[in-house]
This record gives sequence, structure tokens and C-alpha cells, in this order.
Amino acid sequence: MTDQALVDLAFTMLSRSYAPYSNFPVGAALEGADGVVYTGCNVENAAYGSCICAERTALVKAISEGCRSFRRLAVVGNSPDYCWPCGSCRQMLYEFSPDLEVLVANKDHQFVKYTLRQLLPCGFGPDTLG
Ligand code: THU
Repeated sequence: MTDQALVDLAFTMLSRSYAPYSNFPVGAALEGADGVVYTGCNVENAAYGSCICAERTALVKAISEGCRSFRRLAVVGNSPDYCWPCGSCRQMLYEFSPDLEVLVANKDHQFVKYTLRQLLPCGFGPDTLG
């Protein structure tokens, strides 16, 4: 799958987003090392602290299916700016795949590409614990 196809797949998840409080739908597509793609969307809650981001939805879906290593992630939104992954998502992804490629898109399906290490320099991970 091309990078653009992964981004476009993440866009299909915007319609599944449950974001009545922020009105900011987010979609994600996370490609496992086995080639399987796990999709996700943000799911909000009246108790705001219980909201979960699209990337973490995709990640916990993957982990619960037995996949623990990842190649690429696409994160998309409907905003003119790129839909940057939040700090909590960067941290949770770093646990499993610090060398993940992250494709971050704007509403026009244009994307920029970073490694997770670039987005979370000097990250705290399992190796840090020794
Ligand atoms: N959101 C994500 O889904 N991913 C991120 O990395 C940033 C934020 C969601 C959470 C919330 O539902 C909405 O965007 C506004 O913060």
C-alpha cells in the first residue's frame, strides 16, 4: 500500500468518529509489521477525560488482536493544519515501535512524513527501564 493509500484509508474513518464535544473528527490507520492495517477514530465522552484519540483506538485494537510491532501510521483530520498526533499518542506508540513512520495529513489529503523518534525525541521507553 502506498503512503497516500494509507492516508486515504485513514480519511474513511472520519465518518466513524464520535466527537460531539470537540467537533474535531480524527481518523487513523496503523500498519502492522505483518502488513495488516488497523484503523481507528476518536471516541469522545461526556466525561471529557475518558475520550480516546484515533491513534490510540487503532493501537489498542492492534494490540488486542496480537500485533505489537508497526511500520507506518496515518493520522488525518478535517482541518487546514496537519493533524499532529498528541503527546499521549506519541508516547503510547513509542512503547511498541519507536522507529514508526508517521504520516500526518491535512484536510486536502496532503501529508508530511516523520519518524516517531523525530516527533518524540529522547523518548521514555522499555529500554529506559533497563
Ligand atoms: N485527537 C485525536 O484523535 N488524536 C490526536 O492525536 C489529537 C486529538 C482527538 C481527541 C479529541 O476527540 C479531539 O481530537 C479534539 O482534541
